[in-house]
Order: sequence, then structure tokens, then C-alpha cells
Amino acid sequence: MVNIGFNIGDLHFKTPVLTASGTFGYGSEFDDFFDVSILGGIILKGITLEPREGNPYPRMVETPSGMLNSVGLQNKGLEYFEKDIYPQVSAYNTNVLLNINGSTVDDYIALAYRINKLEKIPAVELNISCPNVKMGGMAFGTNTETARTVIKKVRAVYKKKLIVKLSPNVTDIVDFACIAQEEGADAVSLINTILGMAIDTKSMKPFLSTITGGLSGPAVKPAALRMVWQVAKAVSIPVIGIGGIMNTSDALEFFLAGASAVQIGTASFIDPKASVRIIEGLEQYLGEKGFSNIKEIVGYINKPNI
Ligand code: FUM
Repeated sequence: MVNIGFNIGDLHFKTPVLTASGTFGYGSEFDDFFDVSILGGIILKGITLEPREGNPYPRMVETPSGMLNSVGLQNKGLEYFEKDIYPQVSAYNTNVLLNINGSTVDDYIALAYRINKLEKIPAVELNISCPNVKMGGMAFGTNTETARTVIKKVRAVYKKKLIVKLSPNVTDIVDFACIAQEEGADAVSLINTILGMAIDTKSMKPFLSTITGGLSGPAVKPAALRMVWQVAKAVSIPVIGIGGIMNTSDALEFFLAGASAVQIGTASFIDPKASVRIIEGLEQYLGEKGFSNIKEIVGYINKPNI
């Protein structure tokens, strides 16, 4: 038997494969494809205190080896979540995490305080990296002072596991990972999408209503992998790798670079069962290589014997 579980502190994840926020809805969208409880965890669509309509359409466009999105954190807000979604997602036999967002620091604090009371949510992913909103999001996560402030304040009110989702749209992501660790985060997840754009030469207009959007998919994987490698060497808290992971081989690269877990995002749009295939593939690879625990390969490329 190969052990592929991982922990953030005392919170156990049965597998190191989670689904990325905004790519897996509230889980129920995937119930027809597989038993969602197989996953180590699901990170639900980004939530805000108040409902948000999101950005005007068009807000998604395919690009070579990637996808641009500018959804703008569309969601029905916390109250709706508490009444209508929470009872459903509580039934999953896996970790259900919320990706939390705000336009102001006070929004983040109020949201974190209320979510702290939801018994079946053992952790939140603090999103200071959404590139598609005018206020909050990436604006917080690309400035070291505001990043520090929001992490510190959320940490003060949120007593369970706190994961900080980092933006790649900075000069040195390591600085932000270190700030997250210093301010008490239990883990960091990276990368959120890379700010990009695409122009329709027929209409001579940008494809997205917001002109720019967040790039994800295979196109970003080498950049994401490099940042995960750099961050994993700099912090002692777990690093969750995200960015263009389409198959087991991609996921393995992130583990070898130092990730303790991965999130599957864009791949789920192409194959709803991508995350399950990756879990099976990890077990097979580790077995074939003679490892009994996935921890043995985490950061393997940094080990002195290679
Ligand atoms: O536009 C969006 O809802 C994207 C959110 C994110 O990348 O965090």
C-alpha cells in the first residue's frame, strides 16, 4: 500500500489532490462523474460576503495551450451559501474548503469570522490573487504591505487552517510566501492565474469584456513549477502547487519540485475525472518506483544525492 495522504498541521487530507476554486463549482456538478469524496479536498468557488454578478460577458476565451477567464468572482454571497450550499457540501466525506474574497480588508475579516463558525469547513483559502476585480483580490496580493495586513487580520479571527493563495503577478513570489508564513498561514497555494489578454483580429477588439483576464492551463505550467520550487525552498509550511496540471506526470513534477499537494483546475473542464486519474496515476507511479509514502518524493530534486 502506498500512502499518499498529507497534512496541514493536524488536518489530514486522504490524498494530495484537491480541486482548484472556480473550476469545480460546489462539487455537486461532478457527482454524476465520480464520487467526489475520493478527493483529498475540494475548494469551492470563490465566495464574498455579499452576492456578486461578476464581470460582463464575454469572460472566457481559449488561447494556445491555455484559457483566459475574467469571471469576476460571481457568486451568491455568504448568506446564500450558509442556507443552500453548506448543508449539501457538508455531506461529502472529504475536506471542503472555501476560497474567500473581499473588496476591503474588513470584508475579508467579516467573512472569515462567519466561516470560522461553520463546523464542516476545516480550512479556508485566502484569495489575495484574483486578477479580475477592481477592488481587493490581486491588489492586496501584489503589495507586500497590504498582503501582510490582510493575512494578519484574517489570521486573528480565523482559528482553523489558513491557506494563502498567491499571485504570480509579482516580481518575487517568495517574498509573499514568506509574509504568509510570518503572519501565521498554515500553508500557501500557488499560482493563481497569470494576467493576460487576447485580441480578436476580425472585430479588432479584445475577446474579454474586461480586456485582461487570468491565464491558466498548460501554458502556465513551467512558470508555476518554477515558482513552487522557489517557494518550497524558502518556507517550512506546506506548499500546494497549482498551474496547468493536466495529468499524473504534471502533478509529479510539482511534487518533485517541493509541493506537498496539488490542485487541479483547468483540466477538469476538459475531463471532469482528471483529478481521479491523477490520484490513480500517483499511486501507480509510487508503487512502480518502490516508494511507500508520497512524502519521499516531495522536493526530491533538491535532495543532496541527486
Ligand atoms: O474572476 C474570477 O472569478 C477569478 C478568480 C481568481 O482567479 O481567483
